Order: sequence, then C-alpha cells, then structure tokens
Amino acid sequence: MSSVDFLSEEPVIDLKSDTITKPSAEMRRAMSEAEVGDDVYGEDPTVARLEKKAAELLGKEAALYVTSGTQGNLVSLLTHCGRGDGAIVGKDSHILNNEGGGLCALGGIVAMQTDDGGSLPSVANLNYLLHPKDNVHFAQAKLLCLENTHNRGGGHASSPLEVAELVDWAHEHGLAVHVDGARLFNAAVAQKVEPSELARGVDSVQICLSKGLGAPMGSLICASRDFIERARFWRKKVGGGLRQVGIVAAAGLYALEHHVARLAEDHENARSIEEILRKGGLRVPEVSRPTNMVYFGVEDEAGADKLLAACRRRRVVFNKTAPDTFRLVTHLNISREQAIEAAKIIVEEYRG
Ligand SMILES: Cc1ncc(COP(=O)(O)O)c(C=O)c1O
Repeated sequence: MSSVDFLSEEPVIDLKSDTITKPSAEMRRAMSEAEVGDDVYGEDPTVARLEKKAAELLGKEAALYVTSGTQGNLVSLLTHCGRGDGAIVGKDSHILNNEGGGLCALGGIVAMQTDDGGSLPSVANLNYLLHPKDNVHFAQAKLLCLENTHNRGGGHASSPLEVAELVDWAHEHGLAVHVDGARLFNAAVAQKVEPSELARGVDSVQICLSKGLGAPMGSLICASRDFIERARFWRKKVGGGLRQVGIVAAAGLYALEHHVARLAEDHENARSIEEILRKGGLRVPEVSRPTNMVYFGVEDEAGADKLLAACRRRRVVFNKTAPDTFRLVTHLNISREQAIEAAKIIVEEYRG
C-alpha cells in the first residue's frame, strides 16, 4: 500500500491521521517515572489520577480508562443497551462504519441509522425513528449516539447549543445520549469552550488520548459513578481490564496537561493547507466549523491515484477516502513549515 520507506532517514510529512504521533521525550519520561499498581484491583494510582482529571474536565462524576476509542464506544453502548435494543447512530458515524460492527456483533444492539449530514442528526429525522412502544414489530431505541468532532463530516465541530437540543429531545423521549468524542478537545478548542460544555446533560462520553492529544494509546469513558461501575464489568468482559497500565496512563495525563491548548495550532495549519489547495485549484468542500482535518478531491479516479502516488514519492502522505477524495489530518508532529510544504507539493503534483 505504501511506496514510502518509513525506516529511511529522510523525513516524511505524514498527514494520514492524527493517530500517528510519537511520544515526546517529556512524555516518555512521565511514563518511565509513573507510579503503578494492578488496575484490575483498582490499585494503579496513575490511572486513578487520569480518571479523576478526565471526569473533572468533562464535568462528570467518574471516568474509566479503556484501551481505545473503539473499546470506549463499545463498552458504553453495551452498558446502555441490551440485546435487541436500538441505538440511533449517524449513517456516516465512526461507530457504525469503522468499528467492525461491534455493537451488533457483540451486543446484539440494533443500529438504527439516521442521516447526520456530517455533523448531528436533525430532530425531524430523529422523530421518524421513534416507533410505537406497544407494537411488537419494532425494536425500541434506548440510546442516541452523537459524534463530535465528526470525522467523515470533515472534522466538523458541533456547538454546546446544538448538542443540548438533541440531549433535551432524547431525554424527553426516554433515550440516553452517548457522545463519541474521539476529538472532543478539538471541538472545544476550536470554539473556545470548555469540554464540559460539550458534554452537558450527555449520559456518557468517550474521549481519545491517542488522536490529537498525542498519547500512544487509551481513551476514557466519562459518566455518572453508577454508569462507570456498570461499564467496568463490560470492560472486563471485552478484555479491557489491564494491570500496571499506569505506564501508559501517565502519557495520557501528560497529554491532558500539555497538549490541549496547542490543538489550535493544528487547526491553523489545516486552514493554511486548505487555502493553498483551494488556490491551487483543488476541490475543498466547506466545513462550517472546521478543526484539524481537510478533505479534498480531484475530478476523476485515475487522477486521484496518480496524485496520491506522486505525493508519496515526494514523501507527503495522506489517505484516499473515496475514489476521488482524500483526507489529511494535522497533528502534534507536523510543524507549520511542514504543513505548508505538503500543501505546495500537493498543488505542484496536481498541476503536473
Ligand atoms: C470519530 C472516531 N471515533 C472513534 C475512533 C476509534 O478510536 P480507536 O482507533 O482508538 O479505536 C476514531 C478513530 O480514528 C474516530 O475517528
């Protein structure tokens, strides 16, 4: 798949995802000095500190450290829904499209799809999904899932007000709300709001430490104390109970303490790339509240493959997401200079 030799000394400008960041020397030091214990026994002080900090930042009573965003979403859904219950998910959501169908495969949860238009579903569309409770033909929706920022929506950030409207709707109809906040901190920084404002009233939220925040792994589910205690049972069932995991939780703590405010730089770099690509004639769809992603396209499929290969030869790496569309993501290991250089190379290769 890759024509780039990642072992060579020559630098690569790797924009395929914000998951590719490598821990800095300071983060590695925090990891090597971490106090640890057996977290399945609840004896890892670093995990306890990380969970406390995440819960505070999200305005929730408690938090649970899990291995990944996928596991955080799965454990949350398993905690909210039983077999045959419905979870409303966006048709473009990561939970539905990119997590191996875990909610159906492992939870027997019915994925009730709604059009989220690359951000949030509309109340009108949601009303359409609610079925009469006294009719045996219908699975009953128990949960509404939202994604903020929205990955396939170009990194669109939803506002506290937009989220609140859907939380009110869900609670009025007896549904709980889960937010896939893999990049919730990007959404908060982009709008200059506290992460807790984006989680107000939400019943569970999953945040990733391994995306823009730059930790090597780990996510947190933040919710009420009661929910977290129930989620702990599900985490164990899916193999997520870990032992001296403070070693990596320390990287997560470091990330929350040092890498949140700087997400604004990633957003600025993405806007600069976007501008250069647009001026260079590439098709870059508007995202009304953008963050660290840029989706862009060319006219035809053959041209897309040629462009991807030519950029890879010049050591600029990004992903193809559709026959004529690409995605690039800015992150901690991409400097302003590299962002601009990459955009110029893409334009040069596009123009041939
Ligand atoms: C929106 C969203 N949710 C969840 C995940 C899953 O995270 P992980 O790769 O840690 O399982 C991702 C991963 O990129 C994501 O983009």
